[in-house]
Amino acid sequence: MTGWRSEPSAGEVPQPPVAWAGVRHGCLAAGDWVRLTDAKGRRHNIRLGAGEQFFTSKGSIEHDDLIGGPEGVVVTSSKGTQYLAFRPLLSEYVVSMPRGAAVVYPKDAAQILTSADIFPGAHVVEAGAGSGSLSAYLLRAVGPTGRVSSYERRADFAEIARRNVEQLYGGEHPAWQLSVADLTEALPASTDRDVDRVVLDLLAPWECVDVVADALTPGGIVCAYVATTTQLARVVETLRVHGGFTEPHAWETMVRGWHVEGLAVRPEHSMVGHTAFLVTARRMAPGQSPPTRRRRPAPGSYGPDYTGPRPAESRDGPATSA
Ligand SMILES: C[S@@+](CC[C@H](N)C(=O)[O-])C[C@H]1O[C@@H](n2cnc3c(N)ncnc32)[C@H](O)[C@@H]1O
Repeated sequence: MTGWRSEPSAGEVPQPPVAWAGVRHGCLAAGDWVRLTDAKGRRHNIRLGAGEQFFTSKGSIEHDDLIGGPEGVVVTSSKGTQYLAFRPLLSEYVVSMPRGAAVVYPKDAAQILTSADIFPGAHVVEAGAGSGSLSAYLLRAVGPTGRVSSYERRADFAEIARRNVEQLYGGEHPAWQLSVADLTEALPASTDRDVDRVVLDLLAPWECVDVVADALTPGGIVCAYVATTTQLARVVETLRVHGGFTEPHAWETMVRGWHVEGLAVRPEHSMVGHTAFLVTARRMAPGQSPPTRRRRPAPGSYGPDYTGPRPAESRDGPATSA
């Protein structure tokens, strides 16, 4: 079994989640997911069941050899291959769980949690929920006293997200509300008002700027996660033209692993070169606009080839709405 998905076995005692963190402590028990990793880094995810066996081409492993013992042990298969056994971390779970849409990767989830300043008790709106990776991170960060309102316009993806999140947390998370709806239509009609943070991971975040501005509390943060430079430019310019947000901050992160062995200390040869760009901006108080930038845009920034929204101070042409 290699996915994070199966029904509980008969007689299995469900364990309560620890403070809704999606983390289990103590001895390994029937029903727990465990990640087995061999010396070459090959990984298998198995769900422990009393009396069951896990088979690979490297031999079989008795689940009973793990049940009742601690994490961080080495188990040996019938053919002598050794495997490390740990419960999966959240960063391992989200990249292995079943997917509908592409997920937010752990390096970007970490950036989102920090830059969008997600805090315990926060009220966060998220769209689209996709496969539920970011929902899982947001729920862990806001905790049971917070609120994460996730919007997903595709019912099939929403169902995948729901199953992934409930699998992780061992049931319905008390802070989570998942709606199958288009954010631009559903948010204005919802009870999501005075929202602390909004995180957008969808194709056209610029289409959401007006409804997000209405839902956010003054001082709140909008964070957009976009895959391409054209999306990046359009969401940044739309936030500027709206006028009710601070100057958007745009960036990306690249994480490069290092090989460290004796005197051979060098970057890894391969890395994930690109995942997405991030943009954040803060909501101004009603009727307030940020101070105008002193620095004019570089000549040609909004020249004849530019077709997007234009800030009022552009010298290349008149301001237009988004
Ligand atoms: C890249 S996926 C999101 C992945 C998700 N953040 C995760 O970590 O698993 C983008 C999702 O946004 C949804 N979507 C696109 N536009 C939307 C909108 N206006 N309202 C709600 N969902 C939307 C799509 O159906 C898709 O599932």
